[in-house]
Amino acid sequence: MSILVTGGAGVIGSNVVRELLQSGQEVVVFDAREDRSLLGNLDVAIEVGDICDLSQLEDILRRRKVEKIAHLAAVMPDWAKENPYQASRINTWGLVSVLEAAKNTGVPRVVFTSSKAAIGSVDSKFTHPNYLPVGEDIATHPNDVYGATKLASEILATRLAKEFGIELVILRLASTYGPGKTVRHGKVGILSKIIEGAFRGESIRIDSGADQKNDFLYCKDIAQAVNKSLEARIDGVGLFHIGSGRISSLRDFVESVKSHIEGTDIQIGDGLDYGGGVGQYFLMDITKARDGIGYVPQYDIDKGIADYVKTLSQSGQMN
Ligand SMILES: NC(=O)c1ccc[n+]([C@@H]2O[C@H](COP(=O)([O-])OP(=O)(O)OC[C@H]3O[C@@H](n4cnc5c(N)ncnc54)[C@H](O)[C@@H]3O)[C@@H](O)[C@H]2O)c1
Repeated sequence: MSILVTGGAGVIGSNVVRELLQSGQEVVVFDAREDRSLLGNLDVAIEVGDICDLSQLEDILRRRKVEKIAHLAAVMPDWAKENPYQASRINTWGLVSVLEAAKNTGVPRVVFTSSKAAIGSVDSKFTHPNYLPVGEDIATHPNDVYGATKLASEILATRLAKEFGIELVILRLASTYGPGKTVRHGKVGILSKIIEGAFRGESIRIDSGADQKNDFLYCKDIAQAVNKSLEARIDGVGLFHIGSGRISSLRDFVESVKSHIEGTDIQIGDGLDYGGGVGQYFLMDITKARDGIGYVPQYDIDKGIADYVKTLSQSGQMN
């Protein structure tokens, strides 16, 4: 029996795969690309294809004797904005495809990585300078195409999982960072751009945003959340917010990068909104995730950045 990780060649997926293998599970990756740059020398098979190819997915689920699916395959905000038809197809229909294939082959559990972008704009009590933790009952107002595809996926998948009798765990992730993100995610990968740029000895200039606080979530904490969701007792459908449990400013983040990489030249102007209108900045309330799936974040920014830099040192620059 095996676990299928869709998007397993990606920034978060590769960490999910690594952790699953370390715990002795059999894993198969499904991805659009046979890209092993983040999987290193992990001994894992990659099935290459399009997440919307239902018959290929069903064939893989049967042939590989898959018992659970972690569904992470998706396209990111910048690309989704430029390609809304394809983004809806991959992000939203892709999840429908996974659920229908699971139903047709008898796979009982699917874990899906959604995003804080599905929440989008929030009330002022959740933003600067208040930052009250945002729980799962928050009203949703996605403010970009990507967030809308994620919210549409949540709604459709919740309905389908109930009709199909599949256990579905939806994880809404905070703002993430992890090795390999810069080249993949462009503008939304600003945290990784700072670390990876500093690691390469580049001068980094960001006009404004040092005072902006956010919930910075390290990829290894997400791997923990996904893998606990594959195991947890779930009654039907569960929606959980996954964050670091802390709120920190971009200035704090940069100071930590400076302490871990010698001789950095990073300058960031004061002010808010370092993403220039594309970011969502708030603190995820992780109480429900702690109680429901046993998620306990292990990485504050200092520990996350230290691990990130160590990974870069061990593997060279990520691409
Ligand atoms: N990185 C973030 O900031 C963030 C935040 C919230 C949620 N998420 C979600 O977490 C998940 C993983 O994100 P990531 O950061 O690892 O992204 P990533 O881009 O590194 O990985 C996504 C993977 O999906 C694959 N993929 C894309 N289209 C596909 C298709 N049609 N068929 C099969 N595979 C396809 C890509 O090749 C890639 O390897 C995604 O669902 C994403 O929406 C990410």
